[in-house]
Amino acid sequence: MAQHPLIESFQRAGQAQVFAFFDQLAPAAQQRLLEEAAEVDLNEVARLYRSLVAKSDGAAGVDLAGLAPAPYERRPEHGGDAAAWAKAKSVGEQALRSGRVAAFTVAGGQGTRLGYDGPKGTFRVTPVLQKSLFQVFAEKILAAGRRYGRPLHWFIMTSHANHAATEAFFAEHRYFGLDRGRVHFFRQGRMPAVSFDGKILLETTSSLALSPDGHGGSLRALERSGALDLMQREGVDTLSYFQVDNPLVRCIDPAFIGWHVMRGSEMTSKMVPKAYAEEKVGHFCAQNGKSVVVEYSDLPMAMQRETDANGQLRYIAGSIAIHVLDREFVRRMASGAEGVALPFHRADKKIPTVDVAGAAVKPDKANGVKFEMFVFDALPFARNPVIIETLRADDFSPVKNADGVDSPKTCRDDQLRQFARWLKANGATVPVDASGLPATSIEVSPLFGYDEDSFADAWRALPTKPAIADGLTLA
Ligand code: UTP
Repeated sequence: MAQHPLIESFQRAGQAQVFAFFDQLAPAAQQRLLEEAAEVDLNEVARLYRSLVAKSDGAAGVDLAGLAPAPYERRPEHGGDAAAWAKAKSVGEQALRSGRVAAFTVAGGQGTRLGYDGPKGTFRVTPVLQKSLFQVFAEKILAAGRRYGRPLHWFIMTSHANHAATEAFFAEHRYFGLDRGRVHFFRQGRMPAVSFDGKILLETTSSLALSPDGHGGSLRALERSGALDLMQREGVDTLSYFQVDNPLVRCIDPAFIGWHVMRGSEMTSKMVPKAYAEEKVGHFCAQNGKSVVVEYSDLPMAMQRETDANGQLRYIAGSIAIHVLDREFVRRMASGAEGVALPFHRADKKIPTVDVAGAAVKPDKANGVKFEMFVFDALPFARNPVIIETLRADDFSPVKNADGVDSPKTCRDDQLRQFARWLKANGATVPVDASGLPATSIEVSPLFGYDEDSFADAWRALPTKPAIADGLTLA
């Protein structure tokens, strides 16, 4: 019997092991394996194996020649140009009023560190009402749409593993009041894992070891899914990108959008000053006239500790994964044209697989390599990139770990501090401890106020101000 052409192409590429059990499989399982195999770009896998595995010992080998700290726009309270920030805000508000902006959440990660069963966006984070991450973002986006008189489109990138559950969650909650026609879900791509000798690994006898291709995969997934075309039809050219695990994020931030528009930037990113030299964040740097992000693991500790004449860290600009992206820039990056593609990174992992007899193997040490792309690697390709400073307390408190740093507890406390700050800034009396944490539970719905400005307006409009002594929820 003639071989299936796909099987032949795997054989020719030295990947015959993928179909080692094929003849023993039921027709439905055969079909599934063929479908998964059809997703694999064999040339890409061979190229990545050659460049990232065969030729490398796993050390990152990032080129540090000519590296310098990246310039950034300081906040006015840190010496930045107050008039330029005010202008940026009004330009951003105008962009929002004219419907040019859409929100974009990457929610395709596996969330292994949190150890929560279900799409991470369904994790409950708010201090009193226990709203989910998705609900917090939905309400911020809804409120911003109302404030600027133009409802926003919201693009949400899922993975194969969580796509159906994510869609079902939104349907169950009636899209949290958003127009369902403006909420768009699409799956990110997958990459096969390979062994250290370049063989594509099977997870079971009838399935490949496939995993999401990293948040950088969002650029090609936006194109492939038709999201970019949809944006174009709708007159949207600016995407506000944020991660699913950070409920503090100003997901629609007029000043941020305004800097992007004012400078004709293709990619604008937020930085926070690093809290201490060893903090594990990526660093915004300049190199050969370009902006780049260098991961903490790739920047020698001696450089991370360097200080300037004022005793301030030189490499101070920490990346917090919040960006504004130009639609046509995303299209260019997604095109895969020579010289503009995002690089892949390798991660050595324990990858469940099968042995030669088809029996399940759960490795206790790394047995292969996964390939991922990172969205910040797009920065050096962007024209007129801009980096702006933001205040950590107003933009960044991710839920990454089950406990300790960046956990549900630290995130809850940071939300409480933010609500207390907003109240105090508007004249309310809120007892707080030395860290700004209120003594009582407070929750402000994004539908009441989702940033200082919208909160101040809503608070001012309250005919009688509520007492805070026994806790407060503002819906
Ligand atoms: P993280 O780097 O925190 O990874 O993702 P993760 O998969 O969520 O969590 P761990 O490392 O397994 O614990 C940062 C953001 O990028 C998204 C995540 O959903 C999160 O919003 N992401 C990550 C994707 O959308 N796709 C990916 O392939 C990886």
